Amino acid sequence: MKAAYLDEYGGPEVLKYGNVPDPVAGANEVVVDIHAASVNAADWKVRSGSYPPTAAFPYILGRDFSGIVSAVGDDVADLVVGDAVFGVCDVGQEGAYAEKIAIKAAIIAKKPVQLSHIDSAALALAGLTAVVSIEDTLKLRAGEVILIQGGAGGVASFAVQLAKHVGARVITTASAANHDFLMSLGADEIIDYNAQDFSKVVADCDAVFDTVGGDVVERSFAVLKPGGRAAFIASGGEAPPSLRDDVQSLRPQVGRDRHHLERIVELVEAGAVQVPEITLFPLSEAVAAHKVSESRHLRGKLVFEVR
Ligand SMILES: NC(=O)c1ccc[n+]([C@@H]2O[C@H](COP(=O)([O-])OP(=O)(O)OC[C@H]3O[C@@H](n4cnc5c(N)ncnc54)[C@H](OP(=O)(O)O)[C@@H]3O)[C@@H](O)[C@H]2O)c1
Repeated sequence: MKAAYLDEYGGPEVLKYGNVPDPVAGANEVVVDIHAASVNAADWKVRSGSYPPTAAFPYILGRDFSGIVSAVGDDVADLVVGDAVFGVCDVGQEGAYAEKIAIKAAIIAKKPVQLSHIDSAALALAGLTAVVSIEDTLKLRAGEVILIQGGAGGVASFAVQLAKHVGARVITTASAANHDFLMSLGADEIIDYNAQDFSKVVADCDAVFDTVGGDVVERSFAVLKPGGRAAFIASGGEAPPSLRDDVQSLRPQVGRDRHHLERIVELVEAGAVQVPEITLFPLSEAVAAHKVSESRHLRGKLVFEVR
């Protein structure tokens, strides 16, 4: 099998091709022929060494995908060869920038017919993270006010729509170029973070969802009302220490399971959440896609069309 991977020094200029063995479906696994895979911020962080060191090379990045089941392992009763599926790699597993992947059947879901592989790959990890953050972690309720940091990104643009669907009032931050886009997703108030300090113009929020990190974390605590809760996904695996003893600091635990993928499908099918704006790349352009992702100013999702 031909799989794209970046050179072992994380150098962004060199894309090599290597031969790696075709994956085999173990017990409870299926092999998926990948049609599309998305780029997530984690990918350039892994590549650049910000995450724990990679044990062996060649190393194939990529956390989510959509494709067709091409082999079924023992004890898989609910998927057959030919099923169109999408999903997110198990925690600790990567390898979706490829033509094939072996993955636990229980953590992937059937792709709805009305969504393309490209759309489904774009929705997988971003949608999963947004659903776990907004519904499971923050437990956002109708009538509450939420500040979503970095509204134009893949996770946050899903979260803005989900929060509106829940019935919350949504305030979000974005550069001016993304304000019309966020208005079209239903945001009630959009703050240009280049022109205004959000912590000076927002107060008394029930919840904050931070997808930006850095100094945004500290300032986010200031906008919460007593009893408020904040969830952080861009500041490592642990919740940052709360700067106030009357608010909660939370780190969404983004596990992998079919149920949450089906929730994404349900939200899209109900019209609550739109498929994100997508920029397509061939897999051979992984370097170019990483440059865009690493710039941290993309809108929506970057997706590889694999076949
Ligand atoms: N399971 C998980 O825990 C999980 C899953 C997915 C992602 N993440 C993390 O979540 C973060 C977001 O990922 P993502 O892929 O959705 O988006 P991303 O690519 O990291 O972020 C892009 C967006 O961030 C916005 N942005 C950058 N700086 C900003 C600032 N200071 N204030 C407000 N917005 C700002 C940009 O909008 P403008 O162009 O308008 O600046 C752009 O739309 C990443 O750190 C990623 O690693 C965690």
